[in-house]
Amino acid sequence: MTTPIYYVNAEPHLGHAYTTIVGDALTRWHRLLGDDVMYLTGTDEHGLKIRQAADAAGTTPQAFCDMIAPKFADAWSRLNIANDDFIRTTEPRHHAAVRELLQRCYDAGDIELDTYSGKYCVACEEYFTDEELLDGDLCPIHKRPVDHFEEENYFFRLSRFQDRLLDWYAAHPGAIVPEFRGNEALGLIRGGLRDFSVSRTSLDWGIPLPWDERHVAYVWFDALTNYLSATGFGDPKVDYTTRWPVDYHLIGKDIIRHHCVYWPAMLMSAGVDLPKGWAVGGWLLVDGEKMAKSTGNVVNPLDLVNTVGVDGFRYYVLAETAYGSDGDFSYDGLVTRYNADLANNLGNLAARVATVVEKKCGGIGPAPRADSPLAEAAAAAYAGAAAGWDHVAPSKALEATWSLIRATNAYLESHEPWKAEPGPDVDAVMGDALEALRIVTVLAWPAVPATADAIWGRLGMSGSVADQRLPLAATWGGYPGGTAVTKGDPLFPRIRS
Ligand code: MSP
Repeated sequence: MTTPIYYVNAEPHLGHAYTTIVGDALTRWHRLLGDDVMYLTGTDEHGLKIRQAADAAGTTPQAFCDMIAPKFADAWSRLNIANDDFIRTTEPRHHAAVRELLQRCYDAGDIELDTYSGKYCVACEEYFTDEELLDGDLCPIHKRPVDHFEEENYFFRLSRFQDRLLDWYAAHPGAIVPEFRGNEALGLIRGGLRDFSVSRTSLDWGIPLPWDERHVAYVWFDALTNYLSATGFGDPKVDYTTRWPVDYHLIGKDIIRHHCVYWPAMLMSAGVDLPKGWAVGGWLLVDGEKMAKSTGNVVNPLDLVNTVGVDGFRYYVLAETAYGSDGDFSYDGLVTRYNADLANNLGNLAARVATVVEKKCGGIGPAPRADSPLAEAAAAAYAGAAAGWDHVAPSKALEATWSLIRATNAYLESHEPWKAEPGPDVDAVMGDALEALRIVTVLAWPAVPATADAIWGRLGMSGSVADQRLPLAATWGGYPGGTAVTKGDPLFPRIRS
């Protein structure tokens, strides 16, 4: 599983955190399934954009990258991201992989020297045709003027790959999810493919081409290769196919062309297997605009964590927006969802279960009944969650998970065990509620890992959620009963909006 590697010209923002959290939750879900997942993220440190940012900061590009890259690593550790590797494109292992991939494409005859002149957006690190530009020669993404560049470049002969790419996608239906984003990629390929330049002479901040050191590799060729670098590609001592091909490239909709057109063509040329899948997310918009340093509407995820906590923030980005579509970020939306789903639903369920067990069952959890009325809701929640994660639809997976929370709260409200005398009836209801909460805890762990771990401990369960394996861990009857159940501090104190 991979995220895009983030440009270090900006500090981590909500848009970066969004993709990284989706990848983390998917990674965790697959680990619960017993899959051996390697989750990769990192930073994109070469190219003109970074050179300019370093110049503006009055420092060298390397010093600049060394200052910003750790901020991404820190942000991910504060957001409880379980990445296994963090790749920086300034690392030697990455240089080796880029040189290897370039050389293979060159030897295949797919990289050739040519002269290029065109209009270039530095923020995108991309050339645009006149038809693609907005009135006044403005970049369609950044809405700011493009530059005119003319230089001798090496070109990757992408135009030769149209049929091969279309054939490959036809043979691998569903490789790109959601489907409408896959159709966008196919539309780009059918619309005709232009060769793209893979080198620059006007810039020195990059990786020199192995056969012509006057040129450095184009930043997108360089950046895409990170996914291979982290598998050991380019190191003759390592078998990179242990980790390649990747199962999921998580990307934003703005980089479909690079990932779903350029990248597979580069791999075909080099004789490397293609990715098994891509999952394309939309943008989180702030006031209807994509969040970007150049737009000035950047939201720092770490500020939001101060209000709703790490899990509150993770839950919000996963649950609020259907992955693939654009979502609108608002502070009010964040607080509303926190109060409704976390404070009033999950937090409330955990608290009331522990309170009633303490008051009516002597603090020791009764075992669930095999024929509990909640067993069916639990099975449906698991089926829905599994389907949601499987389709890279976290909002659906969480909706299914929360349906079990709601069913359990409703079950408690209809039986009102807090009003009843201690005895077998209360024990039966509370055993069921404890078991439902245990299953919720497993299913919610990918989204809210610290909270799930806390509830797991309060239920008196041994081991940790990370050690559980699905589907067994979601099968009704796993709570053994007889454990000391503790209440602890409120998990999600209500926020006054
Ligand atoms: N460095 C390139 C990616 C190279 S991958 C081989 C890049 N970096 S980026 O930092 O600008 O963006 C990385 C990803 O973050 C993109 O997929 C982009 O869509 C995503 N996001 C950036 N802002 C975003 C939002 N406001 N909302 C959601 N995702 C957004 O592109």
